[in-house]
This record gives sequence, structure tokens and C-alpha cells, in this order.
Amino acid sequence: MHQNMSKVLLDIALNLSSNLTSEKQYQHLIDGIDQVFPCDASALFILDEEGFLTPVAVKGLSSSVLGRRFFPKAHPRLESIMQSREPVRFDAYCELPDPFSGVLLSEEAELDVHDCLGCSLYVEGQLVGILTLDSMTVSAFDAIEPMAIETFAALAAATLRNIGQIKALKAQNKKQKHVTETLIQQARSKEGEMVGLSPQMQQLRNNIATVAQSDYAVLITGETGVGKELVAHSVHAQSHRSTKPMIYVNCAALPEGLAESELFGHVKGAFTGANSSRAGKFELADGGTIFLDELGELPLVLQAKLLRVIQQGELQRVGSDKHLLVNVRIIAATNRNLEQEVANGQFRADLYHRLNVFPIAVPPLRHRDGDIPVLSGYLLEKVRSQFNIPNLHLHPKALVKLEAQPWPGNVRELEHTLTRAALRAIQEQKQIIQLGHFESVERAKDVKNTSKYFPQQSIGMRSLVEEYQKELIIHALDKSERTWSKAAEFLQMDRGNLYRMGKKFDINP
Ligand SMILES: Nc1ncnc2c1ncn2[C@@H]1O[C@H](COP(=O)(O)OP(=O)(O)OP(=O)(O)O)[C@@H](O)[C@H]1O
Ligand SMILES: [Mg+2]
Repeated sequence: MHQNMSKVLLDIALNLSSNLTSEKQYQHLIDGIDQVFPCDASALFILDEEGFLTPVAVKGLSSSVLGRRFFPKAHPRLESIMQSREPVRFDAYCELPDPFSGVLLSEEAELDVHDCLGCSLYVEGQLVGILTLDSMTVSAFDAIEPMAIETFAALAAATLRNIGQIKALKAQNKKQKHVTETLIQQARSKEGEMVGLSPQMQQLRNNIATVAQSDYAVLITGETGVGKELVAHSVHAQSHRSTKPMIYVNCAALPEGLAESELFGHVKGAFTGANSSRAGKFELADGGTIFLDELGELPLVLQAKLLRVIQQGELQRVGSDKHLLVNVRIIAATNRNLEQEVANGQFRADLYHRLNVFPIAVPPLRHRDGDIPVLSGYLLEKVRSQFNIPNLHLHPKALVKLEAQPWPGNVRELEHTLTRAALRAIQEQKQIIQLGHFESVERAKDVKNTSKYFPQQSIGMRSLVEEYQKELIIHALDKSERTWSKAAEFLQMDRGNLYRMGKKFDINP
């Protein structure tokens, strides 16, 4: 083979695996042809799904050709090239019309007498495009070895295939990205906003805004139902990672035995049942945020593994010795007193200090000055729009009562209480929710009348409250076929939390 040709072919072959844009790769190919074959013009066409030939690179032809599409039926020369697996020649005396008539740049072009050569490009038995060469010199192509042109055609086809595959991958990737972003967007619009005008809430908002900008770990603490999850979403949404996902992990609900795989993934065959490899939550969160909810429930073994990922920024899938780098911001939440747990040896001190870089304490509802009216309005508006009723108000007396409650279940409890009262009012076709619609307030009255809860001698508040909690749980289990999930529904609280509370009091269904 001609030495120049070998070099050109090598260059093109090397370009196949380069990062050049598809336009540049096409152009390289055409430039290569120009160097190897005695021609004045050449063109590379792609066959599209509709059956049109689209020029993607030209040489010696007006670049206006690049804006055109050629329907083979209207251009017999192109059609016969497509129909042949071998190179096709049209000599100067060929009667078939030339598709490039009038667009050749060469000075002799007006004579319009020239040689033309074309060959079809196949990838895995499928026609993907054609290549054409034109020369102003009559019989210019007589000397070309068919072998040379076929080699070139094979390379051109490989280029087209390569670019086609990359384009398809990019399109798929882009689509995937779009789907993810849409899902994130949708999820975000479903998240409620953080309502509250109290100075305590203003302070909380300031804290969130400050920490959101950084990449520090955030530890959100606070009683049940104060809105820790809402805070976590808000931190992520205000961070520079907001277009990336925030992956949710409930540490209390991690399946026993599979917890490590859930967090860090596994490789095929790592354990019985691991039929394929799988990415863990940390890998899914790469570039974004991971939200470790109920962090206090994370088993000690996993605490050690989590610490390693935080310290080294890399993880290993279960059963693999490969280290994977991940860039993940950690947000954790707990309603436990982790400092206390550290002191008791139930939580690793080193992990606690790593995650407690920026603590955010969400205040309980009873410490928020004046938030109950706005929150009530907001929560009732949700009920109103759900039921599509024109008006729903809270009687001022009822509001006063609500403001006086301690709300151990915080905003969640307020929401449930209001919703139940609202449903009762709606059932009665009332637009104003009266004191009488509140069952829990009534129940609290009953409790008041029970002297047992109002001891004459000094008894710790905590043990009194716990006594009441214990009785409530037993009552709830009685009322709900002695199953935890139904009892949790009855008490409108999280099943896991109820289960743990029950265990603490040694209650079994
Ligand atoms: N400031 C707020 N404004 C409006 N809604 C709120 C606010 N705070 C909490 N909520 C609502 O109260 C409910 C409980 O909030 P969330 O789930 O975030 O609490 P949590 O602190 O994570 O509780 P837990 O410790 O039990 O998991 C949710 O429905 C949430 O939307
Ligand atoms: Mg929560």
C-alpha cells in the first residue's frame, strides 16, 4: 500500500478513539481522502431514518451542500451507489445527472465533464451512508485500486458507527439527566414550605442559609414532628448541589443483614442472592447529597464503615476490593440525644464529632412564639384545597385552645389534630371549626380530670409523661388487633418510632 495512504489511514483510525467532535472527525476523513486519491471534490453522506442522504463533510464543494438533503430516488447516481456493495464509477460520458452539478468549486467546473466514483458504507450489514469522489480529470480514477477505496470505505463506516454510537449514548445520557432533573423538580414541588414567623423560625432559616452554602456535614436535631426532614430538604435545595439528587436513607429501616449493601452497594456473588452487582445509596448520591434520617438508629458496625467513607471519601462495594471515589454531602437527622448516646457508648464519638460540624437544632413547636395561628391557617388551607371546599375557618376560641397545648408531637401532631377536626366540621357541612370538633382537646380535658395524672406529691414530669405514653401504647394496641403498624396508624405516628418506644417500655403486642 502507498506509504502516504497508510499514514492517512492510521491517522483516521486514531481519530476514531479521540475526543474530537463528530464534525471534526468527518472532516478529517474527507481531508484524508483528498490526500490519498486524485480528486477535486469529495463528500461523505449519512443515510438518515427517513431515507435521505445528508452530507456531513465536503471538500471542493460549496459548503451550501451541507445544508441540503438528497433523496436517492431523485439522484440516480447516488441511488446506484447505494445499491452496490462495490465502488461504482461514472465516467465523463455518463448520462445520469450529477447531483453536484453547479456546486463544484473547481475552476474547470463549468465544463461539467468529470469522473465520479462512489461507494456505499456498511456497518454490520446495514447501509449507513455513502462516500463520493469527483475529478475534473477524465479517467482520473482509472488508476485507483479497488482495494484502496474499499479500505477507506471500511474506515469511513467505522467512523460513522462510532459517532453514531456516541451520539446515541449522549442522547440517552441527556434524556436520563432530564428525567432525573424532572423527578427532582417534581419531588421538590411536593415538599411543603417551612411556615412560621417566630424569631425562632427566622433564626432557623438563617442557620440553614449559612450552612447550605458550605459542603459541611449537617446534623439536624429536634423532637419528633418538628420538621427535620423539611429542614434537610431546604439545606439541599439552597446548596450548589441542588440540581443533583438528595438520596434518602432511613437508618432505622435499613434491612438487617443487607444494610451495608444498601449503603455501599455490592458486586455480583458477594452473598447469596446477589445475582447482579448493584450501586449503593452513596454511589447514587455522588455529586449530590445523602440524607441519613434517624441517624441514631444506625448500628455500630455501620457507624464504623460510614466513618471510613467520610474520612477517606471512598467506599468499597460489598465483596469488592476496588475503592470507589464519591463526592457526597452528608445531612443527618435524629430525634435522639446523640451526646447522651455517645456517653452511653451507643454511638461512636468520632462519628458524632465528624457529623456534628454544623448542628442545626429545630425548636419544638411550643417554643415558637406565635407560630400556631399561621401554621394552623397553612395546614387548614391544605385540607380545604384537598376537599375543594370554598371556605374553612378556625373559631378564635379553638385557636386559643390550640395555642395553649404542649404539642409533644409538634407540627405533625398539630396537622393531624387539625385535619381530624376539619373533617368533622366538613362532615357536618360547617365552614367554621369549633372547639367541639377537636377530640384530642376533649381527651386532654378527661386526662385533667384524672387525678392520677395530677399527683399531690412531687413526681418527675418525665416519669408521669412516660406513664401516660405507656398506657396510650397499650390502649392503641388493644384497639388495633395488637399489631404495631395499626397501632401506629391509630396514634398517627411512625411505626418504627412506636415500635422502639414500645420496646423501651417493655411492651409486647
Ligand atoms: N414549619 C413547618 N411548616 C409547615 N409544615 C411543617 C413545618 N414543620 C413541619 N411540618 C410538617 O410536619 C410534618 C412533620 O415534619 P417532618 O417529617 O419533617 O418532622 P421530623 O422532625 O422529621 O419528625 P420525626 O423525628 O418524627 O421524623 C410534615 O408533614 C411536615 O411537612
Ligand atoms: Mg423525620
